[in-house]
Amino acid sequence: MIAKLSTPRATLSLIVLLVWAVMVSAMKKEDFKTCSQSGFCQRNRAYADEVLSHGNDFYSPYTLLQDTIQFNQDNTKGSHIKADIENTDTKVIFTLDVTLLQDNTARVQVNEKSPLRPRYADHARYTLQQDPTAVNPLKLDKNTKTGAVTLTLDDSRKLVITSQPFKMDFMVNDVPIISLNDRGFFNFEHLRTKDTHTPKMIKQTNSEGVMEEKEAESEGSMWEETFKTWTDPKPNGPESIGLDISFHGFSHVYGIPEHASSLSLKETRGGDNAYTDPYRLYNTDVFEYALDSPTSLYGAVPFMIAHRKDISAGVFWMNPSETWVDITKDRSDQKNGIHKILDFGKKGGDGDRTTTQTHWISEAGVLDLFVFFGPTVKDVLRQYTGLTGAPAMPQMFAIGYHQCRWNYINEKDVLDVDSKFDDNDFPYDVIWLDIEYTDEKKYFTWDQAKFPNPIDMEMKLDHKGRQLVVIIDPHIKRAHNYRTCDEAIKEKHFVQQPSGGDYEAWCWPGQSSWIDFFNPNAREWWKKQLSFEKFDGTRENVHLWNDMNEPAIFNGPEITMQKEMIHHDNWEHRVLHNLYSLLSHGTSSDGMRERTSIQKRPFVLARGFYSGVQRYGPVWTGDNMANWESLTYSNPMVLTNGMGGVPFSGSDIPGFFNNPSSELLVRWYQNGIFHPFFRGHAHIDTKRREPYLVDEPYRTITRAAIRQRYALLPYWYTLFYNTYQDGTPISRPMFVEFPQDENLFATEDQFMVGEAIMVKPVTAEGATTTDVYFAGDQPWYDMETHERTLHTGFKTVDAPLEKIPVYYRGGFIIPRRERIRRSSSAMKLDPFTLVIALDRKSNAQGTLYIDDGETYDFQQGSYAHTAFNYNRGTLSCASLHHDLNSSSATTFAEAMKQLRIERIHILGIKKTPSRIQLVSDNNEAHSLAFDYDDTKASLTIRDPAASVTQCGWSIVVE
Ligand code: NOJ
Repeated sequence: MIAKLSTPRATLSLIVLLVWAVMVSAMKKEDFKTCSQSGFCQRNRAYADEVLSHGNDFYSPYTLLQDTIQFNQDNTKGSHIKADIENTDTKVIFTLDVTLLQDNTARVQVNEKSPLRPRYADHARYTLQQDPTAVNPLKLDKNTKTGAVTLTLDDSRKLVITSQPFKMDFMVNDVPIISLNDRGFFNFEHLRTKDTHTPKMIKQTNSEGVMEEKEAESEGSMWEETFKTWTDPKPNGPESIGLDISFHGFSHVYGIPEHASSLSLKETRGGDNAYTDPYRLYNTDVFEYALDSPTSLYGAVPFMIAHRKDISAGVFWMNPSETWVDITKDRSDQKNGIHKILDFGKKGGDGDRTTTQTHWISEAGVLDLFVFFGPTVKDVLRQYTGLTGAPAMPQMFAIGYHQCRWNYINEKDVLDVDSKFDDNDFPYDVIWLDIEYTDEKKYFTWDQAKFPNPIDMEMKLDHKGRQLVVIIDPHIKRAHNYRTCDEAIKEKHFVQQPSGGDYEAWCWPGQSSWIDFFNPNAREWWKKQLSFEKFDGTRENVHLWNDMNEPAIFNGPEITMQKEMIHHDNWEHRVLHNLYSLLSHGTSSDGMRERTSIQKRPFVLARGFYSGVQRYGPVWTGDNMANWESLTYSNPMVLTNGMGGVPFSGSDIPGFFNNPSSELLVRWYQNGIFHPFFRGHAHIDTKRREPYLVDEPYRTITRAAIRQRYALLPYWYTLFYNTYQDGTPISRPMFVEFPQDENLFATEDQFMVGEAIMVKPVTAEGATTTDVYFAGDQPWYDMETHERTLHTGFKTVDAPLEKIPVYYRGGFIIPRRERIRRSSSAMKLDPFTLVIALDRKSNAQGTLYIDDGETYDFQQGSYAHTAFNYNRGTLSCASLHHDLNSSSATTFAEAMKQLRIERIHILGIKKTPSRIQLVSDNNEAHSLAFDYDDTKASLTIRDPAASVTQCGWSIVVE
């Protein structure tokens, strides 16, 4: 590569790359803070330790003041319970505001009553989709003796607020499932000035045995904090918030992405195999991130789900500042005797007396917490995405295969790769351009020497129904005569330094500034930059990749922005750090949607993310390694994203850094086809590894895997529609489908895609067999051979290189398209194959969703949503359209009526039918041809030609 870089520009690129390589390759674990190096985390952990050291004698100083309790009932806006809370040690008063929201959700907000200056509380308008709808409790009781307030939501759910000490219990059937401040870790650091602050003193015996008083260690970080060479001036002093949240009777909690950790979250303060640090949520660019670690990565979603056999519940800690979460498990729960109240065995509980205790610690802002009552995991995810927004419905191409590399070097290279996919009969939808396509990393420009005619290139791709994604990062090169930079300086769109003036630091282009997406004018301006007029060389089949939006800053502390930098309205970066990722992604996504008069669903991939990201587009697991461990971890990471309300994610296939072996490449593709976002990507230093380049037999096997993804696109698209409706993850943990089976509560190496497909990816080198857990009591059918197993529990199955252990679940109908073409758009009008995987009673059900695959017309009713039902030998269909007789529904169904079923496989059918007939809606019947394979008990019906958009027909198997 070096030999080819001869121009001055190429030399500059090389310098930046080398600087980056030197900086980041020198990055180590030690370059990111541990809790003890983060002042507020250390203070809150120390506070928790002190509380625990007092045992039962500890009394939280926070008291709800009885005479301040107000119940503002409003039948239209819902009611609020408001009260003051006093810290009886410091006498500082806080306001408590509790609201019940629709769909079994409660909100708890605490702020300082008279802060020295406002605390950041503007996060909700960016994070939530809209103002949540409050509802009234059925009943409100105040116990005059104890002062406890009880809000009754319905027959089974209650919320009890205790005054002294302040505590909240969320109860189901009179038993607490979630408690706040149960352990007394609630700690709200009020704003203060240094001269009015009374430092905390501790008594200590010195070396001469004399007792002396000195400032507690935690005091040191209150007004200034140094980490490595960085000093955070902390002009506002301490302002953190800590709270313990207990999940009673739950052994497993999930979520709070993003970490390279297990699906069932680990303990962080003692316990088997525990981490020593809390899980951290602070978006940052960690080079060659460690696996099995609570270290923060690119994204942060402070949403956690607890699950046990009989119930699931969740909490959303809506705070975008740096956050840490400690997890411990109390296996006896002796303290409050809850195990005595909970008769798990009798009530169908999980027989487990473990309480998972969590401790949430944020650096700044206010306490704004949502509690979700469930009762199922799917309910909790619907409740959370009901607040933070429905996952976006992508265009069809977005769920096909994406081919990326840092970098395709010029137009010829792009078109060459494009045609090699065709020559080798590999389907793919999108080719990507990384940073080198630009003129010296000046985003919104093209390197004219390498890409003289981007529009031509894009048209050639378009001709084959293919798309191009280009990268645009949120840092803008400081350069003269660069329009984007000049305008942003002039119009003050950049993040500011505390002393005034644009913040400047280093990223890919060298000296850069960062767009302040909190400034509404900057957002409007950014959106315009994405228009075809401004972004030269782009047309409708060009889409976006927002990388480095944590924001990543090469010479910043922990590779990100100094916390004292200033955003719009004078807010410190500290208070909103994790939101930066969301706003950059969201603004780009809005801009891409607004490019055209007939709006198309935008495609914008981002690396950094925060709660609400699901509204904007996919994310990926960042710069992983081409090794078996990283492949293994891609599964819990993608599943955890789903459990965090981020269903559209995937990993770089087959590992970003280093060169994969052919076997690893194959296994990663076989696994990656079952992740919602499916993209091959590679670091600039790696060898070319487009999937058609690998030797035989690997090439044929990889091709078969990618084609399997394309065959299942109708099923995937239907799942995307389902998650758009209710937030259920697409690739989901086994326990989401089998919530009663405790064996599956920590399973992360096997997962479900939707309700109907189970995958056990092979992630071990050299493996030729693997152990699959067959859950439930219905049959499973091998996707490739259609062979049925009635086994339940673990079974060792053959898994030679060419085999992906994937199974259809008995009782479900799966739509497929078997005519694999060069891209998803080429398959748009192809007929379907239905796979009917029978349950033990010979029944099955499934759905198919279809729309134009591009626009928002589906929101006006232009779609078909069809339910198939196979019952007692008859397959019928019915529309699930929400307004079946509307003209948009009928027009769409009529226009698409030629979309037909060309083949039906019925799996698990016990005997050869004597006759199969298609009965049309006017009762005309004609016989259909079929084949029966008695060794596999599988029937194939040939060309029934039934429409999938116009029901009324039935197929009768006699
Ligand atoms: C970091 C991203 O994670 C990676 O995917 C990309 O290739 C490089 N930045 C260069 O843009």
